[in-house]
Amino acid sequence: MPTIAEVLATAQLPGDEARRDAQLLLCRALEKPRTHLLAWPEAPVPENSLRRFEAWLQRRREGEPIAYILGEREFWSLTLNVTPATLIPRADTERLVEVALAQALAGDARILDLGTGSGAIALALASERPHWQITAVDVSEAALQVARSNGLRLALPQVRWLQGSWFEPVGAEQFHLIASNPPYIADDDPHLQAGDLPREPRAALVAADRGLEDLRLLVNASPAHLFAGGVLLLEHGYEQASAVRGMLEARGFGQVQSWHDLGGHERVSGGVWTEGEVTCP
Ligand SMILES: C[S@@+](CC[C@H](N)C(=O)[O-])C[C@H]1O[C@@H](n2cnc3c(N)ncnc32)[C@H](O)[C@@H]1O
Repeated sequence: MPTIAEVLATAQLPGDEARRDAQLLLCRALEKPRTHLLAWPEAPVPENSLRRFEAWLQRRREGEPIAYILGEREFWSLTLNVTPATLIPRADTERLVEVALAQALAGDARILDLGTGSGAIALALASERPHWQITAVDVSEAALQVARSNGLRLALPQVRWLQGSWFEPVGAEQFHLIASNPPYIADDDPHLQAGDLPREPRAALVAADRGLEDLRLLVNASPAHLFAGGVLLLEHGYEQASAVRGMLEARGFGQVQSWHDLGGHERVSGGVWTEGEVTCP
């Protein structure tokens, strides 16, 4: 039987994360934590684990994202199940969660997560603020099924899951905070051919008008669904912050600002709705 060190040394994978990917697949094939690989490099890899590992390695070589092979991805402090119907939650989106948690909101505030995918934002917020009343919307019923089952498995049943396009399923309801990581990539952006993106749902990634169409729709429609003093927070691409701030200011939001991610890029923008009257965009 080959040892853990030998198996990892011969695992050929493409990409910058090749070593980490091989470790993740092997520890899952062995049903052991990653520390086991580091602590016991001389341990033998049993035949059944080796077969499973090699089958997954082949899928990875063919371009399937690790998160879809394993069926899960870590986000915030949670392990979320993911499928090819859901975007793979990104660490970038944890910045949006941090900014949302930093808002001074009541213990029972009403929160809306638009385009919830696997439920990442809604469930991270629910895990930190158990009494917030959180509603999560997605147009994809398949994604919503994954999100709903994540909520049940993580014992966070307080999130209300609604299927439909953006604000349509919430009628005239109002919220204290609206958060969204909508599709924002331009359809000719070369990044769509790189990394995991080619295998992720296009409807979760791409928006018209150089990626700005859904962001604009959300900025324009949000005031009708925000209480006075309510906050809108939007994740966007690293070159879109000034466009999004411009949209927020033009719509009448106050305290408009952007927040940086760990790489120093402005990736979240938002503002406060202070007007009493809601005018149609
Ligand atoms: C970039 S993904 C974000 C998923 C998740 N919030 C996350 O951060 O991992 C965008 C999500 O918006 C959803 N979406 C796209 N168009 C929508 C629409 N018209 N109404 C509601 N959700 C929509 C997609 O199905 C997808 O789940």
